[in-house]
Amino acid sequence: MAFPRRRFLKTAAAAGCAAFAGLRPLAAADAEIEIDPSSPGARISPHIYGHFIEHLGGVIYDGIWVGPDSKIPNLGGIRKQFIDDMKRLGAPNLRWPGGCFADGYHWRDGIGPAAQRPRTYNYWEHRMPPGRHATESNAFGIHEFMRLCRLVGAEPYVAANVGSAGPQEFHDWVSYCNAPPGTLSLADERARHGDEEPFNVKYWGVGNESWGCGGNMSGGEYATEYRKYISQVPTYVRPFFVATGPRGHSADGDVGWTEGFFAGLQNVRGLGVRADGFALHYYTDFRQTAEDGAKFDEKGWYAVLHKGIRIEKVMDDHWAIMSRYDPEHRTRFVIDEWGNWYRGGTELGPDYILSQTITLRDALHTAMTFDIFNRHADKIEMANVAQTINCLHSLFAAVEDRYTRTPVYSAFEMYRPHMGGRLVPLRFNIPDIPVLLLEGSARLPGLSGSASLRDRSVTVTLTNPSLRDAVVARLRLAGGAHLREARATVLTHEDMRAANTFEKPQEVALASLPAQVSADTATVTIPKQAVVAVSIQIA
Ligand code: AHR
Repeated sequence: MAFPRRRFLKTAAAAGCAAFAGLRPLAAADAEIEIDPSSPGARISPHIYGHFIEHLGGVIYDGIWVGPDSKIPNLGGIRKQFIDDMKRLGAPNLRWPGGCFADGYHWRDGIGPAAQRPRTYNYWEHRMPPGRHATESNAFGIHEFMRLCRLVGAEPYVAANVGSAGPQEFHDWVSYCNAPPGTLSLADERARHGDEEPFNVKYWGVGNESWGCGGNMSGGEYATEYRKYISQVPTYVRPFFVATGPRGHSADGDVGWTEGFFAGLQNVRGLGVRADGFALHYYTDFRQTAEDGAKFDEKGWYAVLHKGIRIEKVMDDHWAIMSRYDPEHRTRFVIDEWGNWYRGGTELGPDYILSQTITLRDALHTAMTFDIFNRHADKIEMANVAQTINCLHSLFAAVEDRYTRTPVYSAFEMYRPHMGGRLVPLRFNIPDIPVLLLEGSARLPGLSGSASLRDRSVTVTLTNPSLRDAVVARLRLAGGAHLREARATVLTHEDMRAANTFEKPQEVALASLPAQVSADTATVTIPKQAVVAVSIQIA
């Protein structure tokens, strides 16, 4: 249960909160919001709205790969509905094949005629229910992954095996993917398997969670491995290397990892060793609690949103360390796993391990996370939701011929106009709301949001986390810009636990929201427990 909203003046500026005494709430409005498109800031990398798919439970097999002989509509074995929806979202990238799976994966197992590919061990075997197995068929390998990327229009981001392979295997994979036709034997082999043209993979993850399932290393040990992996790597395409970063959801955010890794690279500066990206993982982690994806109360609602926005502090802490070693910030964040992770119990089925019910709460968490990412656009190259389908924080659920988009999908849809936009300062006065959590109490921003500019269009996204009060928000343009038109959409539901199901796939869906325009101000009433996107055309 929330305490009543208290009114005091507060401002959220582009990168957080700062005093802003110039705006006073009008009697009719809870929040007055000033947007200044005359001084746009950093470009929001479209890759912030990226994806992650792993050979885990029902993510690849059934979720994405149904096989070419399936009755489920497919393009060469890939679920057509998934392709269509990812295209609709403009999905910018796909991270594959893991996750923990990546550090046990040997890419050669996934090439060649499907019938001849070996059946191999999958890391996730240990999580399967008794009597069920995670055996990897290798039906979906690099060629199938690249076909999926092409069909969606997404950039591939491949995570290499550091935990149980070696630099040679990595280098061969890079050559197999990127060597021009006729150069290496590996390019000939790729052509024999159907792809004469190189895949030109630019984004390479050098391992995954090397502090855990990727090798149980310290930051310093990993830095030594990392150097070996990238020193002799083939460079047909200028690679963007993503080094394994910290377990951001641990109690101290795992700052020791970051310190150890960057110290380990420091010794060899000048020898061409670099990390383009640093893979921060942040799960809003409720695995060790009774918190359930589907059944929760008000405290659970607020606890998830509150823990979710802690990612901003974790980013700040790691960025401060990175600033000491790399003041020019040549290394940027790749937040390649983020999302909510509840205790088990709401899986789609016994083989669909780590899948969970996705509700309106997860959509609001997504929106608040994206607003943080946008506000830190100068620091982030990429982010990848974990994981896109049939998993933790998924946009889709698919079991055989049944399929639905989740409320998280709608949040991605609402935020799409931010992709590639320039960050615009957004300032608002709204009291924080005091809330009760699962344990103790805290305060949440009364509204959180971000704004960006593309062409002559400003997109403002706002989340009202309150389970009690609507917010009347007056959006005013500053810096001499004139408002021509405003349109708004809203994502909400009377029931905070609302979810889409196979039977009711439209239960939580986007709706249009009236926006009243008068002079240079647009007014929208943001319902309780809602995300709103306002699109403003400027003259
Ligand atoms: O997304 C599920 C798992 O979470 C990934 O495989 C791993 O990298 C992380 O611990």
